[in-house]
Amino acid sequence: MVSLLGCHIEAALQVGYYGDKCPFAEKIIREEVTEAFAKDKGIAPGLLRLHFHDCFGCDGSVLIDSTPTNQAEKDGPPNGVTIRGLEVIDCVKARVEAACPGVVSCADILAYAARDAVLLTGGLYWEVPAGRRDGRVSRASETVDIPAPTFNLAQATQSFVKKGLTQDEMVALLGSHTIGRSHCFQLTNRLYNFSTGVRQDPNLNPLYAEHLKQNCPRNVRGIANQTLVVFMNQSPYLMDSSYYANLFTNQGLFTSDQTLLDSQRTASQAAFYSGNSLAWQADFVHAMIKMSQIQVLTGDQGEIRAN
Ligand code: HEM
Repeated sequence: MVSLLGCHIEAALQVGYYGDKCPFAEKIIREEVTEAFAKDKGIAPGLLRLHFHDCFGCDGSVLIDSTPTNQAEKDGPPNGVTIRGLEVIDCVKARVEAACPGVVSCADILAYAARDAVLLTGGLYWEVPAGRRDGRVSRASETVDIPAPTFNLAQATQSFVKKGLTQDEMVALLGSHTIGRSHCFQLTNRLYNFSTGVRQDPNLNPLYAEHLKQNCPRNVRGIANQTLVVFMNQSPYLMDSSYYANLFTNQGLFTSDQTLLDSQRTASQAAFYSGNSLAWQADFVHAMIKMSQIQVLTGDQGEIRAN
C-alpha cells in the first residue's frame, strides 16, 4: 500500500502558501469549481484529469494555447478533444488576477481545482501544498509521457516510475477512473479489432462489451465516431471504489485498467481497495499530493502567467 512516509512535501511547496499573499485565492477557486459543477458534473472528472496531464510536469503548461509555430500540450494526442474544464480555470484565473494580480500560478490553480473536484464527488479533503510557478513553454511532443489506454502493466508502471511514482501509487491513482467518461475511440480496439484474428478483447466481460458496443457503434466505414462517449462506470460522479470491484468482473474500461489484475501484487491491492473505499481514498490522497509535486517550478524558475 502507499506508504505515509513516502508522501513527502518538497520544501519549496507549502500548505497555506497564499494565506498572506492572496488570502481569498482558495475560496475563489472553490466557489468557481462548485458553481461549474452545479451546472455540469462532468467538470469534476475533467479538472482531475487536467491536473494529472499537467502534472506529468506540474507547471500549468497544459493550459497554454498553440501558436502558428508551436503545437502546445493541450493539442497533443492524449489531450485534443478529450480534455475539459479549461474554461473553469480561465474563469478562476480572471477572478484571482482581479483580486491579486500576478500572484497565483495556473499550476497551483489546477492543483486546488483538482482537490475541490475530488471533494465535490465524495472524495476526501486534503491540504494542497502550493507555491508552484508556471512553465513558459508547452510542447505537444511532451505529452508522450502521458500513458496510453492500450498500455499493459509494465508499460503503465514504467510511465509512473519515470515520474518518481511507485506502482502502488499508480494503482491508487488509477481509481480516478471511477469518475468521468471516455471517448469511444479510446477503447474501440477492444470491441472490434483487438489483434490479428481476434475481434474482441477476451479480457472484456461479454455483456459489458455489448453495452459498450451499443454506445460506441462503428460507422459504415468501420470507424469509431470521434465524439461519442461512455461513462467510466455505473456511478460516474462518485469517488467510490467501484472501479476496483469492476476489474474483478472484467469491466475495466481500458486495457490499462484491466491490466491491474495481471500481477499478484497489483491484483491484491485492487481487491483490498474494492472492499475498503476509505483505505483507497486515503492512499489516493497521498498519491495525489506526491503526483502534484512532479517537476514543479519554484522560486525564481518560470513565471506567474497572467492567463
Ligand atoms: C495508466 C494511466 C492512465 C491512462 C492510460 C489513462 C487514460 C485515460 C483515458 C484514455 C481517458 C479518456 C479520456 C477521453 O477520451 O475523454 C481518461 C479519462 C480520465 N482519467 Fe485517466 N488515465 C490514466 C491515469 C489517470 C490518473 C493518474 C488520473 C488522475 C489522477 C486520471 C484521471 C482521469 C479522469 C478523472 C478521467 C475522466 C475525464 C473526463 O471525464 O473528462 N487518469 N484517462
